Amino acid sequence: MRKKIVAGNWKMNLDYSEGISLFSEIINMVRDEKNGDQIAVICSPFIHLNSLSQLSAGIVKIGAQNCHQKEHGAYTGEISAKMVKSTGCEYVIIGHSERRQYFAESDSLLAEKTTIALQNNLTPLFCIGETLDERNNGSYYQVLESQLENGVFGLSAEDFSKVVLAYEPVWAIGTGLTATPEQAQDIHAFIRAKIDAKYGMNVADNTSILYGGSCNPKNAAELFAQHDIDGGLIGGASLKSRDFVDIVKTFN
Ligand code: G3H
Repeated sequence: MRKKIVAGNWKMNLDYSEGISLFSEIINMVRDEKNGDQIAVICSPFIHLNSLSQLSAGIVKIGAQNCHQKEHGAYTGEISAKMVKSTGCEYVIIGHSERRQYFAESDSLLAEKTTIALQNNLTPLFCIGETLDERNNGSYYQVLESQLENGVFGLSAEDFSKVVLAYEPVWAIGTGLTATPEQAQDIHAFIRAKIDAKYGMNVADNTSILYGGSCNPKNAAELFAQHDIDGGLIGGASLKSRDFVDIVKTFN
């Protein structure tokens, strides 16, 4: 059985005390209301990681939104995977489209980040997704395949098995436009078939593939009911405790 995961991505929102306060609400609600084996994760800015890890009591897992590709060194302003791990957090988002778009992160750089995250026992939440142009011109299958090939398919089967994938169509992120359950399922099945071809059916069956892009409490149930959708990567709705926990509870 592959893991069901709902991960919130706070992006660059919430100062220190706002983050603690929102997380405290989320953790209390998840503790009282969750009834299932789904995993809830909050990926916060770096400043919150250690405090959230201490508050989490394992009820909600903690993740970072990025890490540097090198172990350590003269990279002013950067945070290494080892530093992230030392805060107590367990996950790290790699390859979010905002990193690809605004910080020019290439597939080969993301492959390095994934490797160093795994070396530091962090679970990479590795994101792929096509832009609106790529959706409209029909090149999206090739785009997604290339992001997989160059981002994570260089890993050994053992390492790949530790990665969680997230399909996030760029045109659906923060736009209020959501992929239909059929569109999302189509892509998730495509991704799983590519994993099968690369690593075999056992690895493909056990890889969690999350959907991200304007997911909210109203549309989550229909999306998560799809055979190849194993949860969500939630942006805007993760900034509201009630909405985020309702999405987590979709699996109850
Ligand atoms: O990481 C989360 C995704 O970018 C989705 O963001 O739910 O605000 O569309 P969104």
